[in-house]
This record gives sequence, structure tokens and C-alpha cells, in this order.
Amino acid sequence: MKDLLTLMDLSKTQIKKLVDFAEIIKKNPQKYSSSLKNKTIALLFQKTSTRTRISFEGGINQMGGGSIYLNWITTNLHLGSLPDEMKCISLYVDLIVARVFEHTILEIMSKASKVPVVNGLSDKFHPCQILADLLTIKEKFGTFNKVNTSWVGDGNNVCNSFILGCAILNIPITVATPPGYEPHEEVINWIHSNNKQDLLTLTNDPKKAVREANVIYTDTFVSMGQEDEKEKRLDVFKPYQINKKLLSYTQKAPFIMHCLPAHRGVEITDEVLDSDQSIVFQQAENRLHLQKALMISLLK
Ligand code: CP
Repeated sequence: MKDLLTLMDLSKTQIKKLVDFAEIIKKNPQKYSSSLKNKTIALLFQKTSTRTRISFEGGINQMGGGSIYLNWITTNLHLGSLPDEMKCISLYVDLIVARVFEHTILEIMSKASKVPVVNGLSDKFHPCQILADLLTIKEKFGTFNKVNTSWVGDGNNVCNSFILGCAILNIPITVATPPGYEPHEEVINWIHSNNKQDLLTLTNDPKKAVREANVIYTDTFVSMGQEDEKEKRLDVFKPYQINKKLLSYTQKAPFIMHCLPAHRGVEITDEVLDSDQSIVFQQAENRLHLQKALMISLLK
């Protein structure tokens, strides 16, 4: 593996190894305090971030490496040829984390870069988030074998990666979205071409989606860049809010996941987000540990 642009880049064994390694690092971070010594990592961001930026920068610092955060518009990435700029950046650093509006930008970066490129979120995928979430699921259940997941809300980038992560690990997933807001067709095609269709159920009915789940995941109804659609989306997605009423249809006291930032009272109520079933802050913490494992693995 040179890059991580999507979870389709990883096998079941590679994902399990990363999760296991992250668990080891989490238990004994001191042992890895020099693992990135003399390594420099560039973080090139077109969009704002709290968790992704800080967990990468914090993780790099804790492992003795150096990080350079660059807001895209303060560089010349938008002025010249992107491949030329990437060739230059990859002469200076050992790894690049990029958050971009369009996934195709990451593909251009990956081709031009001599060093690994990691997707820190694109319009299509958020693989680092889901790898950390799989670590959280493993911590909660001790195994992936007893897990039955549900996604309720927008078929967005996080949803696409959650479907892929679950399918690669043979975890069943039911996805409830409004009509017209289904996951990306590339993900559906991947599911079919890898004979994983028995694991994925698509529905428009949130009650059906949550009934058998022991994990329920949601995310914002209005992602960055969709502000023009805000009014329409908030109306269309109203029946997909995770609230006590929806949870009354569940049978297995599910854990509640959200990648954050949450819009309290929109896709999820305070009551649910702050409940004992919520594992959102464990998810957030695990970004740090999983990304440490990822960076060490990519830089080996
Ligand atoms: N979950 C997540 O990626 O958070 P940020 O957008 O704050 O990085």
C-alpha cells in the first residue's frame, strides 16, 4: 500500500492489522514516541477541520515527527499545475495528508507524488474516520463477528466509507436514506463486483434500518460545500433524525456513532448524543491512535 485514498485500497487483513496495531499503540504510546523521528508530514487542507487536523498533528508530534499544515489557498497549489506542485512537495516531505473538495484531486496528487498520500476527507470518502471507527467497534464488541450496523441519514462520504469498511470485514450494514440521497454508485458497484450484496441493505425506512442494529451511525445532513441546499435538505432529512422515538424501534440497545461535528437537534438529539449508548467521543479519540498506526505502516 503506497497511498490511502479509499478503503477499497485495503484488504480485510490490512484493515484488521491496522486496527490491532492501533490498539497496541493506544495501550503503550510511549513505545512509539520516536517512530516518526526525522520524518516530515505535510497536511494540505482545502476545507476546515478540527479532529482530522489535530489528531494528525498531535500524533505526529507525539511520535517525534514534524508536521507542516498548509491551508490550500495560502500555497501555489491553485496557481500552477497540480502535478508539478505535488512533485515538489514530495521532494520535501515523507507523507502527505490532504483534505479536498473533489476526490479526483487526490487521484492526481497520488499519481504525481513520490511519497504516500492519505485522504483526510474528500467528497466521496473519509477512510481515516472509518478505520478509527472500526477500532471503536472492535473495542466495544471485542470482535467484528457479532456486529450488525445501520447508517441513518445522508449517503455521504462517511457513509460510503462505512459501507466499504463494514463490507470488507463482512459486517452487515443497512443504510436508510431519503430517495435520491443514496450512497455513491461507485460503492454500490464495488459491493456487487466483490459479491458483497448480501451484506448491504438499502432502504428509505429509518425504522427498518435500526431494528436489528447494535450500532447506529449518523452524520450531518448538510456537508461542507452543500450550504446552498441547506433548507431543502433539512426538510427532506427530518424523518431520519436519531432520537428517542427512533431508538424505541430498536431491539438490541445499539451503540450510537457520529463522526462529529454534530448538529445537535438536527441529525441527532442532545438526549441521544449525551446518552450512555453514545460512543462518539471514543470515536474521536481513536482518530489519534489509528492514524498513528497508519502513518507508521505507510512509512515503513
Ligand atoms: N470527523 C472529522 O473528520 O472531523 P473534522 O472535520 O473536524 O476533521
